[in-house]
Amino acid sequence: MLYKHTNNQKNPRTLYPKKEEQEERIAAQTTQTRKSIVGLEDVKLLSSQLQEMSYPGATTTLEQSQTTLANSYVIPRHGLPEDVAYNLVHNELNLDGNPHLNLASFVNTTTTDIANKLINENINKNLADNDEYPQLIELTQRCISMLAQLWKCSPDLEPIGCATTGSSEAIMLGGLAMKKKWEHRMQDAGKDISKPNIIMSSACQVALEKFARYFEVECRLVPVSKKSHYMLDPKSLWDYVDENTIGCFVILGTTYTGHLENVEKVADVLTEIENQNPTWSNKDIPIHVDGASGGFIVPLSFHTDHMKQYGLQRWGFNHPRVVSINTSSHKFGLTTPGLGWVLWKDDSYLSNELRFRLKYLGGIEETFGLNFSRPGFQVVHQYFNFVSMGLNGYKALFKKSIFVSRVFAHSLLTSKKMPGYFDIVSSTHERISDGGIPDYVSDYWDNTQDYKPGIPLVAFKLSDEFHENFPEIPQAMISSMLRSRGWIIPNYPLPKSTDDSDQCEVLRVVFRSEMKLDLAQMLLIDIEGIITKLLYSYTKVSKEAQHMQATPESRRSFIYEMLLALASPEEGDTETNPELKERTSRNYRGTC
Ligand SMILES: Cc1ncc(COP(=O)(O)O)c(C=O)c1O
Repeated sequence: MLYKHTNNQKNPRTLYPKKEEQEERIAAQTTQTRKSIVGLEDVKLLSSQLQEMSYPGATTTLEQSQTTLANSYVIPRHGLPEDVAYNLVHNELNLDGNPHLNLASFVNTTTTDIANKLINENINKNLADNDEYPQLIELTQRCISMLAQLWKCSPDLEPIGCATTGSSEAIMLGGLAMKKKWEHRMQDAGKDISKPNIIMSSACQVALEKFARYFEVECRLVPVSKKSHYMLDPKSLWDYVDENTIGCFVILGTTYTGHLENVEKVADVLTEIENQNPTWSNKDIPIHVDGASGGFIVPLSFHTDHMKQYGLQRWGFNHPRVVSINTSSHKFGLTTPGLGWVLWKDDSYLSNELRFRLKYLGGIEETFGLNFSRPGFQVVHQYFNFVSMGLNGYKALFKKSIFVSRVFAHSLLTSKKMPGYFDIVSSTHERISDGGIPDYVSDYWDNTQDYKPGIPLVAFKLSDEFHENFPEIPQAMISSMLRSRGWIIPNYPLPKSTDDSDQCEVLRVVFRSEMKLDLAQMLLIDIEGIITKLLYSYTKVSKEAQHMQATPESRRSFIYEMLLALASPEEGDTETNPELKERTSRNYRGTC
């Protein structure tokens, strides 16, 4: 976004000083000595001092000094001493949330001192400079080889891939490669290539839809349902796939609920559809696996037997239909933000039109990312993580995260202070055999293979029973009250569905490595405290409301609206203001 502004702050573009004002100011700067703010000469106000230095003569009164704050949208005429500028920026950024308590995001927020040392040593290297940094390119190739093995690529194939800016760029490339291959298949048969489409579930992250829109492919979103566990329902593919389907995006770990979409079942249905349509020139419709989170979590947490028991033995390159996979290193690859990967299981899946050959001192290099220059240190960080943690290091860390997430879900369900108040929408806390939960949480640790695989997150909502008893209490209150304790836990509607489940909102907590058992317990205690407070306030307010001359229904609605207004991120009536409603209604499609 070029400019970010809140609804009570004008677009900074409108705050540009007028041309005459600018000229006057420049004239004043050259003729006047720097003035202090009237009445505040002795007060060491950092921001006013800074304004004085950047806009000499402009801040003669406190009132004016406030308007000059808008000048943070204009490059100052004179620069600031580095240490002063540091303080200015540092102080402002302190207003951001604490990344460790940002449980809304999958993106890693921890690095070690030694990793930071390596990052700093390589911070100025450009990944695109093959000539200058041959070892960086070598580390990139090693990471690609490591990921290909992790994703079960056969040694007989020649995997190919590249580092990307997160999963988003990787998904664009995976989609583009499928589009080109489809075009070739259709062109060879002399058929029309003007109407390609791609299939994905409505639980997709926005990056997948972006691919379709940016690269002019019809996006066929398959709505999910409670029955499909908010994932792509393979059977519904019959209504969506045709000869113009370039491929399917299958999500290994949905953003909303962390479920693993079933590559095997999707592939089986595609085979059935193709068999029913022998005249199609579009054979072997490919699957691109979106492993933004699952690309690391699945191979490093769930043994093949465990996945088999769950009905998802082959999710990677060992499945014939899977041609490409992406992941976000900055999620469970544990690098800093900005790194992802896309791999094709064989060189032949990436058409020549998408490859560019560039001459370097050492020979010819191929490039096929959407970006050219990008930070090299992220690849160094990923390689360092592989080498320093090894497979076992990752496994140990993920085992703990998954355990903590399961214990948290279990505790929400069994809390004596919140009996029956919550339903869990994610599934990793459930036994594979019967969907039940254990008597003792230690079973999650001892018999981890008995429980459903998935991403370490807990998506939960107030139960129907709770809503029936307390219809006045909006779930969004929990999210906003947790925010005042520092926790960032979003409350969003479920994806578009066939059964109205998208009318439900869920709270979602991602369990990254720093979310240890003690912190999870504190979160639980805070949720219990908030629920107690909400129920207490509700009882008090509804007692008072008894005296209102209104029907019970309108009393209820009054309390609900009041609480919802308190929980809303912006001021205003969303019912009468559609623009505000659009701005404030969030969706997990846009989280990461
Ligand atoms: C399933 C899925 N796909 C794609 C993305 C986009 O990933 P990135 O933020 O790395 O671009 C996300 C982000 O959370 C995701 O959860």
